[in-house]
Amino acid sequence: MNKSIQLVDKLYKFHSLTLEEYQYLLDNRSSEIALYLRKKADKVRREYYGNKIFIRGLIEISNVCKNDCLYCGIRGGNVNCERYRLSEKNILSCCENGYELGFRTFVLQGGEDGFYTDSFLCSLLKKIKAKYPDCAVTLSLGERSYESYKKLFSAGADRYLLRHEAASEELYKKLHPENMSYRNRIKCLYDLKEIGYQVGCGFMVGAPFQTTKHIAEDLKFIEGFKPDMCGIGPFIPHKDTVFKNEKAGSVEFTCFLLSIIRLIHPPVLLPATTALGTISENGREEGILSGANVVMPNLSPTDAREKYSLYDNKLSTGLENASNKKELEERFKNIGFEIVTDKGDVKK
Ligand code: 5AD
Repeated sequence: MNKSIQLVDKLYKFHSLTLEEYQYLLDNRSSEIALYLRKKADKVRREYYGNKIFIRGLIEISNVCKNDCLYCGIRGGNVNCERYRLSEKNILSCCENGYELGFRTFVLQGGEDGFYTDSFLCSLLKKIKAKYPDCAVTLSLGERSYESYKKLFSAGADRYLLRHEAASEELYKKLHPENMSYRNRIKCLYDLKEIGYQVGCGFMVGAPFQTTKHIAEDLKFIEGFKPDMCGIGPFIPHKDTVFKNEKAGSVEFTCFLLSIIRLIHPPVLLPATTALGTISENGREEGILSGANVVMPNLSPTDAREKYSLYDNKLSTGLENASNKKELEERFKNIGFEIVTDKGDVKK
């Protein structure tokens, strides 16, 4: 216990631990240490963002994907997945609805779908930014070329989310088919940063084959990369994948990691993810209390939501539904936090 406390204090002070120290902290978790860690993370978060929670309107533009990631329900090889694509008109009407509800960031997320060419996306981005100059647009559309990222940035995209999935190449290979490249994924992240995006990386907690050593490597990666955003959520099995019988990640471990990541990089924008809300009724509140400061409710059309099934029982109603913002506000108020109508840029 004492050594863990010392490690948390060291992390709080220096924002860095060795790989072995991270692993020690992960392997020797206890509810006492988790509480101690959470208090430090909360303190740091309040120094940067007070009690403010930023909201992002998530628009799932397509579930068509050329990749075949072993864990993912919308992987290209899943013949049971009913595919859809949103048109420009559909997407703009999601933005309109979101703006009225008080969202000032729109996240366009989708599988790697060749339908969404640079020219389609640039034209869409220009329209969104012209209509809502006070809003940020985040893209989450997977790996693209440097030139493509550059064009999209010039057309108005502000942020990009691309989870690195695993900083260990050995684990990355166990979670992805042979034609996917760990190196290219990391290159994409550095390309995005160089171009000027606010960039988000991230990984799943409790994925098959994942050990605490692998997670320690993720934490070292985050230390070096200093992402503006970091999306982590529990792995949840999907019935149409090879991992269908694997066990899900836990709220407890995900929250422990949220606190650590807050201490590694104090200004990071950290979402309490949908996956966290899916495995537990109060998952999102637990995430916020552990140091998260972002939630991303769903603005997609209702029929699209069911089809964007990354894992079993993925929530898209209730608190995940952007229309229920009032209820979300109420829940966060109960634990002392306030949802704000704000672009919510990272504090530099
Ligand atoms: N469980 C949890 N998260 C998943 N993702 C994909 N499939 C799953 C799953 N079965 C995450 C990946 C991806 C993001 C869009 O969703 O990390 O980057």
